[in-house]
Amino acid sequence: MAHESTFTPGNRLSKWFDDRLPIERMMHDQFGVFPMPRNLNYLWTFGGILTFFLVVQLLTGIVLAMHFVPHETMAFDSVEHIMRDVNWGWLMRYMHANGASMFFLAAYIHIARGMYYGSYKAPREILWILGVLIFVVMMATAFMGYSLVWGQMSFWAVTVITNLFSSLDSIIDGLGTTIVQWIWGGFSVGNPTLNRLYSLHYLLPFVICGLVVLHIWALHIPGSNNPTGIDIKTKSDSIPFTPYYTVKDGFAMCVFVMLFAAFVFYAPNYLGHPDNYVEANPLATPPHIVPEWYFLPYYAILRAIPDKLFGVIAFAGSISLLLFLPWLDTSKVRSTRYRPIYKWFFALFMIDVVVLGYLGAKPPEGWYLIIGRLATAYYFAHLLLVLPLLGWIEKPSAMPGSITDDVLGKKPAGAK
Ligand code: HEM
Repeated sequence: MAHESTFTPGNRLSKWFDDRLPIERMMHDQFGVFPMPRNLNYLWTFGGILTFFLVVQLLTGIVLAMHFVPHETMAFDSVEHIMRDVNWGWLMRYMHANGASMFFLAAYIHIARGMYYGSYKAPREILWILGVLIFVVMMATAFMGYSLVWGQMSFWAVTVITNLFSSLDSIIDGLGTTIVQWIWGGFSVGNPTLNRLYSLHYLLPFVICGLVVLHIWALHIPGSNNPTGIDIKTKSDSIPFTPYYTVKDGFAMCVFVMLFAAFVFYAPNYLGHPDNYVEANPLATPPHIVPEWYFLPYYAILRAIPDKLFGVIAFAGSISLLLFLPWLDTSKVRSTRYRPIYKWFFALFMIDVVVLGYLGAKPPEGWYLIIGRLATAYYFAHLLLVLPLLGWIEKPSAMPGSITDDVLGKKPAGAK
């Protein structure tokens, strides 16, 4: 990767390996002495937290798969069997279900951090795009995992979401319906659907692992951004990753795991929906079909638009637009800290996403629908108008000369 290696093998065995497969050298260079900005705050610990939860999901998922039966007549009962009969099965399942929520919570904080500090800007565009791809695959994986329980919400969520493809019928007659039936493997959601969702739910986490390796590789070429958005200029601006950030990341991980444990042990079903404890019934549609909390903002965008096809386009657009953030944002400074006007728009965008999330859980009628449309309009206006235009107009506030100046509290040139 980007920096000269400083590794020297400590003994003959280490030298023998180093000449053949230099893993120890790679770990030393990339996670031992790797130069990090000295001013990172706790928002920079979420990448490590995400890595931790990826491992938790893989390990608990592999154990669950040993007992789960992917058949429409047995899936729901096999989950109950895991909960009641399998040793520690309840723990594996509650860790996996709540682990998904923690994973998304950490991902949202990680993304918001990237947006606030302009971490997507050059030279970190590919790192950011890989992040968005990870996010999309995470969403697909979580959706498929939820379906496997084969409860009422699972079944009807799959029916609603797969049916979105039928909106293509309005472009070419019959195209959408053909795609939907191809996905289902029949004329409704059923056993073939469950089997393919299970197969993909097991496959996609490994795709995420591959993308995460590329993500961290792409991070270690320019190195981390930091709260000032100013690059490392001198040696005093940086500190080695170990021990400083291994300890800081480890501490943050412990605190986050306490929140995770609080859910797993004290409120394991708080984030779920009671209807998913009712076995799937194709003859009874629940009155309100709601996805898991982490999909609610997108669900609100989907439902804000009366036309099915345009709703789907808005839903897909709300996520894929993130890929273009590095080019939509025209500001010359990275960090929002030095953007006096954008700061307020950023806060409004965060509130907007929370409001969308709230509305996603409400029926799309009356005031909920009107506010949902306004919030959807602001979501797109923020990305397509505020980011490109404000960058041209706004005058950044005075910035410190370097990371060290900022840490030492030296007044920026021109500051009062
Ligand atoms: C499985 C999910 C993910 C994992 C394991 C992961 C891992 C990491 C790690 C370990 C770092 C370095 C530590 C840090 O800056 O927090 C990082 C940085 C970063 N990640 Fe992720 N990430 C994930 C998802 C995402 C997503 C969804 C995005 C954006 C859409 C994203 C964007 C970024 C950016 C821009 C940085 C650089 C931050 C900076 O240097 O300021 N990541 N990621």
